[in-house]
Order: sequence, then structure tokens, then C-alpha cells
Amino acid sequence: MKKHKVAMVGVGRGTAYGHIFSNHPDTEVIALCDMDEKSLEQNGKEFSLPDSALFTEYDGILQTDADIVVIGTPIPFHSEQSIKALEAGKHVLCEVTASDSVESCIKMVDAVRKAKTKFMLAENCCYMQFALEWDKNIKAGKIGTPFYAEADYVHEIRSLVDGKWRSNRAPLHYCSHSLGPILMWMDDHIVRCTASGTESRSFPVATDGNIDIQVALFETAKGATIKMARSSVALRHPALCTYNIIGTEGFMESSRMGYKGKGRRYFAGEDPEEGIEIDIDTSAPGITDIPLGSHGTSEYFLVRDFLKAIEEDKTPPIDIVKGMDMTIPGLIAHEAAKKGGVWLDVPRITD
Ligand SMILES: NC(=O)c1ccc[n+]([C@@H]2O[C@H](COP(=O)([O-])OP(=O)(O)OC[C@H]3O[C@@H](n4cnc5c(N)ncnc54)[C@H](O)[C@@H]3O)[C@@H](O)[C@H]2O)c1
Repeated sequence: MKKHKVAMVGVGRGTAYGHIFSNHPDTEVIALCDMDEKSLEQNGKEFSLPDSALFTEYDGILQTDADIVVIGTPIPFHSEQSIKALEAGKHVLCEVTASDSVESCIKMVDAVRKAKTKFMLAENCCYMQFALEWDKNIKAGKIGTPFYAEADYVHEIRSLVDGKWRSNRAPLHYCSHSLGPILMWMDDHIVRCTASGTESRSFPVATDGNIDIQVALFETAKGATIKMARSSVALRHPALCTYNIIGTEGFMESSRMGYKGKGRRYFAGEDPEEGIEIDIDTSAPGITDIPLGSHGTSEYFLVRDFLKAIEEDKTPPIDIVKGMDMTIPGLIAHEAAKKGGVWLDVPRITD
């Protein structure tokens, strides 16, 4: 089989996928783009690429014969770079979140609608091993009909917020790690939201990115409620990335001590006094012979599904609609917080 040729833009986080694509039997990395010449040069060596395959201008990789572009640049560039790649006839795997404004999201949806190639949002949390296992249990009806979920993501990255692009990114704008798995488990989307949190006491100069914490409430089309706390500056260690989903017949809950801690679950009919401890695995057990990115086996399985969608000409599992479902609610929730906690409708942009 002909190998897919992959070009990457943004060699920070983007290289996690780069290592998967460069070690995958069906793909090869043929070009890199980064505006930082030093990082570009270092990564060129790491991926054994000649200087002619390294570009500081994005248009350079679009002119190569790559058929896939991986977008690993800061969020404000995702929309424009995705649109250009789709217009150049490339498939796009784009880092989270999709974009930073509803207007730019609409433009992305329009570009995907016109393109003959595939777009997938790289929401790796949906592919963590425990998320995939919960999905099977929930879809099998083990917790009945889900009516409530929480997903708090409190991850202190002060050094990445201070003076960098994240200083303008409201905590709730980075909502896909929380909403992604929940909406997948619920097979649902958000219709309205409210939120609180506009102040920063953690930094001397307040910006959207260093708001201490924001808490949002979301209502879904099926009538479920989701609560989310988001912060990039709260000194909570280990980082809190926690999930809890409750249905008419039981619940599943992850640990508050990171992925190494134990979670719990209860399914109706079991002894409630017993409760059942569960592992919160990020990796599939016993798998050692696949190229890995970061975050356990999640990114390998995400890439596998993206390639499958290309090869079988099918809709990728996290397509543009689902990608927007995990992006736009956070943009609207931040607006709701700024307006003093009003409820706002969340538009759904379908393709
Ligand atoms: N899924 C995850 O677990 C996860 C984790 C971290 C970051 N991310 C996402 O990955 C993306 C990148 O995050 P990061 O922390 O690596 O960002 P970063 O600020 O480190 O930037 C990444 C790289 O992009 C380059 N760059 C910036 N603007 C560019 C442009 N216009 N053209 C070409 N290169 C450009 C920078 O020089 C840098 O090397 C973001 O979308 C972020 O949300 C996802």
C-alpha cells in the first residue's frame, strides 16, 4: 500500500503525532513547518528530514505532495491553517480546540463542507483507554440513561499562560478535554449554558487566560446537565482532570488524584455497600508494539481511526460537527460569564 505523506505545522505539541506518523507502517513524515527556526532545525534532525523539507512559511508545506497536514500550532491559527490545507486538497488532523471564535468555527465548517478531503479534531481524551471502556459500558446501558456529568480540568500551566498566546485564552475556551468524552458517552450535544468566573487574583495583570477559575453549567439536547470547572492557573497538584457521569441505573467516576488513582462505579443490581473500584487507564493493557505519542495509547488509536476514515472514505469519528460540539460551548460559556452569568443558547453548526 502507498504510504500517506504527512506534513506538520507547529513542532511543539505537534511532534507527539509526528512520532506516531513517522513510526507507523502506513505513513511517513515528509515536511515540517514552524516559525521558530531553531525548533524547526532541531526537529528536522529528529525526523531525519533534509533542509528542503523544512519551512518557516506555512504555504511551503501546502506546496509539497503531502496528503495529510497535522496542525499543532496555537489555537488562534487552527482555523486559517485548516482552511488553507483543505483548499489545497490535504486531509487535516487538527489539535484542540478547533478555534477561538464562533465566526472562525463557521468558516472552518464551510471549508470542510466544500472539501473532498477529511477533517478530524485530535481530541485525545476521547481515546484514553478508560474513556473507551466507559463508552462501551454506557452504550450497553450499564448506567441507564445519563442525566448528569462533571468534568473538571484544573491544570496549572502558569509559565505557559504568562505573556504567551494562552494569556488570551479564557479557561472555558479550552473545554474539549472535558466535553469531548462526556458528549461521546452521552451521544449528545450542548444547547445552552451559563458560567461564572471573570477575575484573576493569581496574577498582577489580569488577562482572560489567567482568570482564576471558571465554572460552567451546560444543558444538552437530551436534557442532561454537565458541570465543568476550568483553570490554567489554580495551584492544584496533581492536575485535576476528572470525570463523573450519573445515569438512571448507576454511575462511573474517575479519581481526583490523576490517572494513577482509582475511580469507582456502580451498576444497578450490584451491592451498593460494596462499590466497585476501577482503574483509570490511559493505555490499553498489553500493547507494546505500536508507535506512541503522549497520553498513553490514546493518540495511536486516534491516528488509526483518522487513517481508517481516509482509506475507507468515511466520516472521521471526531468530524467537524463533533469537533465544533466540543469547542463552541466553551466559547459561549465564557461570554455568559462576562455577561454576569446569564444563560445563552449554544448554536450547533452542522455540515
Ligand atoms: N491534546 C493535548 O493533550 C494537547 C496538549 C498540549 C497542547 N495542545 C494543543 O496543541 C497546540 C499547540 O500547543 P503548544 O503548547 O505546543 O503551543 P506552542 O506555543 O508551544 O507552539 C507550538 C509550535 O508552533 C509554532 N508556531 C506558532 N505559531 C505558528 C505559526 N503561525 N506557523 C508556524 N508555526 C507556529 C511555535 O513556534 C511552536 O514551536 C494547541 O492547539 C494546544 O491547544 C493539545
